[in-house]
Amino acid sequence: MSDTPSILFICLGNICRSPMAEGAMRALIEASGRKILVDSAGTGSWHTGEPPDRRAQVTARNHGIDISDQRARQVTPEDFRSFTHIVAMDRNNLSELRRIRPTNATAGLSLMLDHTTAQAGLDVADPYYGGAKGFEATWGDVAEGSAGLLAKL
Ligand code: 4NP
Repeated sequence: MSDTPSILFICLGNICRSPMAEGAMRALIEASGRKILVDSAGTGSWHTGEPPDRRAQVTARNHGIDISDQRARQVTPEDFRSFTHIVAMDRNNLSELRRIRPTNATAGLSLMLDHTTAQAGLDVADPYYGGAKGFEATWGDVAEGSAGLLAKL
């Protein structure tokens, strides 16, 4: 197995929270000069092939990060072996990952905000049905979780 850490961020649709987490973490990794792979996926398949939600793209761009090239995909059984870390945005998605986890899985499963001290045990709230303020809150959460996770790797 490779020593290079690899992180897969998971939300429901893979168009809002986990693409923002992927973008935030990729920027932190680039700034750190480390070699760590990052990707994101959804437990659901409704948005497969779509770019991130416009509001997620705008929010990331406001923080200097372009996530427009990302395309949504659904998590696969292979992901549980090919990634070292699979990080769920909320407890519902973490439960779903535990349910579909193959018996030969090697990836460690965790909750995004468990990588913070201030918000351990909490969900990154789903901003899909809200407004721009919700997306800004999401950005704060995924940036904080990504920084905490990177510090442990
Ligand atoms: P995400 O947000 O899980 O953060 O990508 C959602 C996007 C779409 C839906 C739900 C959540 N949806 O029901 O279509």
